[in-house]
Amino acid sequence: METERLQKYISRCGYVSRRKAEELIVAGKVQVNGRFITELGVKINPAIDRVKIDGQRIEPEALEYYIFNKPKGSITSVGDPQGRATVMDYLKDIKTRVYPVGRLDYNTEGLLLFTNDGALAQALMHPSKGVTKTYEVKLKGRVLDEHLEALSQGVSLEDGVTSPAELVDYGFDSKTNTTTVEITIHEGRNRQVRRMFEHFKYSVYNLKRIAYGGLTLAGLKRGAYRKLQGEEVRQLKALCKLPFGKTSSGDTVNKRSLTKDNKKQFGRSGATRGSQRRPRGGR
Ligand code: URA
Repeated sequence: METERLQKYISRCGYVSRRKAEELIVAGKVQVNGRFITELGVKINPAIDRVKIDGQRIEPEALEYYIFNKPKGSITSVGDPQGRATVMDYLKDIKTRVYPVGRLDYNTEGLLLFTNDGALAQALMHPSKGVTKTYEVKLKGRVLDEHLEALSQGVSLEDGVTSPAELVDYGFDSKTNTTTVEITIHEGRNRQVRRMFEHFKYSVYNLKRIAYGGLTLAGLKRGAYRKLQGEEVRQLKALCKLPFGKTSSGDTVNKRSLTKDNKKQFGRSGATRGSQRRPRGGR
């Protein structure tokens, strides 16, 4: 049976933060199986031990998972001292304390996950898991193949060389003077996609995350959210190699409507969006 530190368990119950839980323990407010615990470091077995705070039994909140289509112009934070719109403003109807999994910039739109499952959130964000994130990037002007090739192999940013990525060039639109590129990355550094293109002096006109692991925004309007289905949660856990009964194995992404014929691909083949790919030079 898995044991867990008492303060961690209390915070997992959604009662207070881990730090505040430590204060409650030291203040003599916490009982385990009827015995007051006042020292830190005690571990409990959540499956059998009963924890009370001020005489009230506490139990972990049910784990919840949401997918949200973040609009531009909102910060990924649970609160903002400057009073700007936050992603939480869109999730007011959710009564459970859920948190964003990673972040999208103020001016980035698209897929953002929320959960109170700290283990899954941490695993999804950890670079060692390599969970894919796909972005649609609109860049001002035309883009050189050699730059997309270089981005697919890795470029040197101030925080190190980026891991190999997959890119698809959907071509230049003369009406808007923009080029649309899809990039799939396996890590999630701060402002990574913008910095990758800025490395080659491109100006990012619009950035949207369109897929995360096997999930897409299909059917979700800007500003809307929905609960993930059990199978979707199972799939995310499988990608992170976390236990969840039966698991599905796919890190596959549903087909999307962007289907220009003249797209070109860069980076290793057989990656997430394989069904949309063509060999290089296949315009
Ligand atoms: N990369 C960025 O540059 N910004 C985001 O919001 C997400 C990925």
